[in-house]
Amino acid sequence: MEILGIDIGGSGIKGAIVETKTGQFIGDRYRLDTPQPANPENIALAIKNIAKQFKWKNKIGCGFPAVVQNGLIKTAANIDKSFIGIDANKLFSKTMKCDVSVFNDADAAGFAELTFSEAKKHKGLTIFLTIGTGIGSALIKDGILIPNTEFGHLFMQNGIIGEKFASDAVRKNQDLSWEDWAKRFNEYLLHLEKIFNPTLFIIGGGTSKKIDKFQSLLSIKTEIKPAKFMNNAGIIGAALLAK
Ligand code: BGC
Repeated sequence: MEILGIDIGGSGIKGAIVETKTGQFIGDRYRLDTPQPANPENIALAIKNIAKQFKWKNKIGCGFPAVVQNGLIKTAANIDKSFIGIDANKLFSKTMKCDVSVFNDADAAGFAELTFSEAKKHKGLTIFLTIGTGIGSALIKDGILIPNTEFGHLFMQNGIIGEKFASDAVRKNQDLSWEDWAKRFNEYLLHLEKIFNPTLFIIGGGTSKKIDKFQSLLSIKTEIKPAKFMNNAGIIGAALLAK
């Protein structure tokens, strides 16, 4: 089945038609900058523009950077606060005049990995992290995804939440070298290791493409791998979950 998958992020919105049996894209991916303010009206328009690009009128799955419960947006760390309390399934379906289902972006990306990568067979606890504007998380145990975990909001010892300390946006904004950022990311991973004792970390988001720049600088004991679908995992997973 073909479904349009859209990944709404703090800095970009990406979409592609996904063949849900294989996770492969049918044709190219299309990207727009996230409109500012990233409020419900502007994001709905951006979704419309992406669908228009593909002349798409069928089912759509969206990954969204917030806690999402049955389509209801509960938080808004990297998106306009006016989203809180909005039923995004209803709003986007009404704008698009088709069925739109919305999920947390990291859960969507984690679900793509769970369906198509080695994570599917992994016996143990997987923590999937997307490192981008924020830090998103998906917790996977024996093939089951536990949604809306928000590990990017865990407090570090210095009193700062993980995503304000070690996201890719922090690396860029503070002009940190890979070495300096890796020290921070390592501290964050050690914190997760201590609390959750995972058996595998999978890294998604833009940073997954650059894992060679920092993997050797990490001192964690847990195995760590890049996401099979790199930063396309969110698009693929959103389509899979919508199905
Ligand atoms: C949000 C999460 C989201 C993550 C990545 C965080 O700021 O709270 O819901 O998954 O950013 O986009």
